[in-house]
Amino acid sequence: TQVLAKSGPLAGKKLVISAGGTREPVDPVRYVGNRSSGKMGYALAEEAVRRGASVRLVSGVTDRPVSFGVDIKYTETALEMFAALREAVKGADALIMTAAVADYRPEKPAVDKIKKGAEGLDLHLVANPDILASLQGDFIKVGFAAESRDLMINAVKKMTDKNLDIIAANDISQPDSTFGSDTTRLTLFFKNGRVEELPLLKKQEAAARLLDEISGLL
Ligand code: CTP
Ligand code: CA
Repeated sequence: TQVLAKSGPLAGKKLVISAGGTREPVDPVRYVGNRSSGKMGYALAEEAVRRGASVRLVSGVTDRPVSFGVDIKYTETALEMFAALREAVKGADALIMTAAVADYRPEKPAVDKIKKGAEGLDLHLVANPDILASLQGDFIKVGFAAESRDLMINAVKKMTDKNLDIIAANDISQPDSTFGSDTTRLTLFFKNGRVEELPLLKKQEAAARLLDEISGLL
């Protein structure tokens, strides 16, 4: 519920942000997951609220505390995140997808806990839907890409394939841009061909820079 009238450069704007990683169940106690910390998405949500936006954060798994003023919906699997985002983007002005979505999930999670004893265990995975590519509408779309090589080629291809306005690419071969870090070095690629190389920044500062750019498109 909205109690206070909001002011600031993003007042009246509705931003949808995803953060954290997804967990794909193997059995009732185990999952396939990833190292996403959620820090970038939460930093964006907090900064957007500071600027007066109304923010819906669809959060995967993270250990971040709740952020004041952010409307958070928690999800676990990629399919749950997809369903939550499909609802959330209705009427949104922008979607910023920082979540680390599992590309694959176990085809059929075991109903009972898997017992040991066999020589080995094959886990068959099937592809998850591409959430960002699938969500289309009258809103600005911003994606993230973590690349270990060919940053520009890979990032620009993702921007085109997913029909994005901006992609924020992160070179994870650099020691200061590892998962869980409080800092990040982002290169922003824009649909019109512009490239903006940001210096090494605290995620809070990188969030502010990215929101400056998004504001310019709204
Ligand atoms: N993404 C998504 N749904 C997926 C996979 C990715 O919405 N099933 C989003 C991510 O949140 C991110 C962007 O797409 O904003 C790029 O994700 P990334 O994993 O870098 O790219 P992929 O398209 O999955 O390609 P690959 O992992 O093969 O590099
Ligand atoms: Ca991926």
